[in-house]
Amino acid sequence: MKDVSYLVIGSGIAGLTFSVKIAEKFPDRKVVIVTKSTEEESNTKYAQGGVAIVLNHEKDSFKKHVDDTLIAGDGLCNKAVVEMVINEGPDRLKELLEWGANFDEDATGNLDLGKEGGHSEFRIVHHKDITGFEIETALLKRVHQLPNITLLPHHFAIDLITNHHIKGIKPDEKTCFGAYVLNQKSGEIFTIKANSTLLASGGIGRVYGHTTNPVIATGDGIAMAYRAQTKISDMEFIQFHPTALYDVRGNQSSFLISEAVRGFGAYLRDKKGHRFMPDYDARAELASRDIVSQSIDNELKKSGDTHVYLDCTHLDMDSFIAHFPNIYKKCLDNHIDIKTDWIPVVPASHYLCGGIEVDMDGKTSITNLFACGECTKTGLHGANRLASNSLLEAMVYAHNIFKYQVKSDSEVLDFDIPNWDDQGTSVAKEHVIIQHNLKELQALMRDYVGIVRSNERLNNAIKRIDLIYDEVDVLYKKSKITTSLCELRNMVNVAHLIINQSLKRKENKGGYFNIDNL
Ligand code: FAD
Ligand code: SIN
Repeated sequence: MKDVSYLVIGSGIAGLTFSVKIAEKFPDRKVVIVTKSTEEESNTKYAQGGVAIVLNHEKDSFKKHVDDTLIAGDGLCNKAVVEMVINEGPDRLKELLEWGANFDEDATGNLDLGKEGGHSEFRIVHHKDITGFEIETALLKRVHQLPNITLLPHHFAIDLITNHHIKGIKPDEKTCFGAYVLNQKSGEIFTIKANSTLLASGGIGRVYGHTTNPVIATGDGIAMAYRAQTKISDMEFIQFHPTALYDVRGNQSSFLISEAVRGFGAYLRDKKGHRFMPDYDARAELASRDIVSQSIDNELKKSGDTHVYLDCTHLDMDSFIAHFPNIYKKCLDNHIDIKTDWIPVVPASHYLCGGIEVDMDGKTSITNLFACGECTKTGLHGANRLASNSLLEAMVYAHNIFKYQVKSDSEVLDFDIPNWDDQGTSVAKEHVIIQHNLKELQALMRDYVGIVRSNERLNNAIKRIDLIYDEVDVLYKKSKITTSLCELRNMVNVAHLIINQSLKRKENKGGYFNIDNL
C-alpha cells in the first residue's frame, strides 16, 4: 500500500496542471500520478486548434467571449461559471508560458490569435496545429523537475475506495480514501491511500468507435465516480466534431481536421461542389459545432453519401502550410494534396460536455474527491462546448482545486483499508467475449445514439445495453482484472448513462437532437 497526500488519476492537462501547482506549494508532501498508458498519452496530446483566451482588448472583450460561450451552450450554461473561467484565462496562460510552453506569434511579436466556430473574434492561442502536444510536453517537463511527484505510467485506476470498502465507518457522509490500482506490466493490484483524490481521467470518445479521441478515452473516471455514487449529469450532450478526416479504408479512429481550418476560410461542400452551410446558418462554416455537425448529417442523409468535403484550394497555401503543417502532412500521407484536392470529412464523436458534477472548487459530492477536465460537468459548456474552451476549463479548475486545497487541508483519515480481494477469480479464457461486446457496444452507440436520436432507437439501445451489461458483469466477477475488461465495463456504464439521460431530455438543446422532441 502507498500512503500519499494527493492521488491524481490521469496525466493530461488537468492532472498535470494540478500536480505541478500543489507539488510546488508543498515540497514536503507526496503527489502520485497514475496514468494508464505512456505518460503523455491523453486527449490533451492531440489538441490542435488551441486555447480560447481574450488578449486583444481593442477588438475583443471578456463579455464577447462569455456571450459566445452562452450562445453555443444553448441556454444551459451556468453564467457565473462561464464568467469565472473566461476571466481567469490570461493568468492561466501566463503560468503555461512560465512552465515553458510556446505559442505562435504574429509579425508584430504579439501572440497570433486564430478563430474557430462560434467565436465572434480571433482569440485562439495556438502552437501551429499541435497546441496540445506543446502544452503536454511543457507540463511533463515541469513534473519531472519536481522531486515530490511520482508519475506511474501503465498504472490503471480500477475503482475509488469509499466508505463501503471500510468496516466500522459511518456511511452518512461519503468519503474517498484513494483508489485500487493495477500495475499493467506486473498484474499486481495495490492500494493507494490518499488524503485527497483527483479524477482527471478525460473523456469517453471510444464509447463510439468512430472518434477523434485516442484509445485511452474510455470514460473510466466517470464510471468509477458513478459506481461510487457521485452525481453525473448532462451525459446526453456528446459533441460530434464536424470535420474528422474520412478514412476510405474504414478505420474507426479518425484524424481531426481542426476547426481552425474553417476559421482560416475553408468551405464545406457536397460532392457536387455546393457550399451548403450558408443554407443552414448565417455564420456558415463558422456556426457552432452542433449546428455544423447536424447540417452535415442532414446532407448525408439526403444524398446517401458517406462524407462531405472541406475545400481549402482557394486559400493562401504558404500561410496555410505554416499554420497547419501537421494537417497538411497527414493529408499528403493519405494521398490528398490540399492545394488541389478537397479533403473528405465526416463528423465523429469528439467531446463530452457533461460528466461528474463539480462545484467551482472542483469538489464532487464525495468528500475528498475532486474532479477536473473533460470528465467533469462544471456548467461551462451547457448543451454544447464552444471550441477551444476545454483546455482553458481544465487549467482554470486545476487552479481552483489547488487554491481550495491550500486553504482547507483535507483531514488525514486513518482507517484500515482492505486489500483488493480477487479470491475466486481466474484468468479469463474467453477474450472473444470482451472483443465481441466492445464491437457491439460501439456499433450500438453509433447507430442508435448518434447525432440525431429517436425514442425508438434509444429504447432499443437501452434493452441491448442491459444485455451487454449482464454479460460483462458475469465475466468481471469471475475473472482476474485486465485493462481491457475494466475498460469495457466502464464503457458499458458510460453508455448506459448516455442513453438513460438522453431518454430523460424532452427538449432539443445544443448537441442533443431527438426527432421525437420536434
Ligand atoms: P486527457 O488529456 O484525456 O487526460 C486523461 C488522462 O487520464 C490520460 O492520461 C489517460 O491515460 C488517463 N486515464 C484515463 N483513465 C485512467 C485510468 N483508469 N487509470 C489511470 N489513468 C487513466 N480542446 C481545446 O480546448 N482546444 C483544442 O484545440 C482541442 N483540440 C482537440 C483535438 C482532438 C483531436 C481531441 C481529441 C480533443 C481536442 N480538444 C481540444 C479537447 C481537449 O483536448 C480535451 O478535452 C482535454 O485535453 C482533456 O484534458 P484532460 O486532462 O481532462 O483529459
Ligand atoms: C479543433 O481544433 O477543431 C478542436 C478544437 C476543440 O475541440 O476545442
